Amino acid sequence: MATEPLTEEPASGRAAYAGVLRFYDLAKRQEWQVRDLPWGQVPPIPEGKGSPQRRARRKDMWRSVLTQQLQADMLACDMASQLLNIAPDHEAKLYYSTMVQDESRHTEAWLKLIEEAGGTAERDPYLDELAHMTLEADTLEEKVFQMQVFYERLIIARFSLIARSSRGTVLEDLCNRLTTDDGIHHGAGMAYEKVLLQNASKQTKQKLVDAANRLLPTFVEHALWRPKERAFIGRAMHARDIERLKEDLEIGVRLAESLGLDVSEVQLPV
Ligand SMILES: [Fe+2]
Ligand SMILES: [Fe+2]
Repeated sequence: MATEPLTEEPASGRAAYAGVLRFYDLAKRQEWQVRDLPWGQVPPIPEGKGSPQRRARRKDMWRSVLTQQLQADMLACDMASQLLNIAPDHEAKLYYSTMVQDESRHTEAWLKLIEEAGGTAERDPYLDELAHMTLEADTLEEKVFQMQVFYERLIIARFSLIARSSRGTVLEDLCNRLTTDDGIHHGAGMAYEKVLLQNASKQTKQKLVDAANRLLPTFVEHALWRPKERAFIGRAMHARDIERLKEDLEIGVRLAESLGLDVSEVQLPV
């Protein structure tokens, strides 16, 4: 695929946006449909073994995993359409028009999968809070950083984890597709954020770091939150959760550094 020529070339004087256009192109080529998933050929989620009680408990756990992903993708629809509306650059708008479609399609897939798995469970209140903070952020630079540079980078590892524990199901197939899509969303965000920050004032960059600092305590709450269906795992996994949280935060700091941001004032809450 990398050897094929781009169908979208940057206009003259717009070479800085070639990266964003490349992801626009890639997004168009990677587009899939919800009907492409193996509905009816494999189970929607892992069926589990053991006593009926044990199986029911596993099913509730999966419903809760699915609910959090549906919630995340519905919020992503809000964020992607906000970015489409406020991004001033033509190339970015083209790209965001594909991201709006992706996040809507992801939502459609989760809705269908949850229906087959027995319905939704409890929402993560901290995820709602985080999305609200990003939607209310003052600058485009902050929004792109939080949504695409940070969250969409972290979710990729989460999807691989879910795929590994749900082999041979529709859920696994969906997670594999989402890994690819969010790889594109993250890559596009990095490409656009680079251009935005090249032209940003010192003050805008400082605001971005301040906003990240304000967001971190809620991010920690979100990372450690467990609905009642998964509370039993939450206790068993607490040490692992803290480890993963630390890794996630370090990834965020490294990404900020790679974009030339001054991270000396970032206070990691763990
Ligand atoms: Fe998504
Ligand atoms: Fe995404």
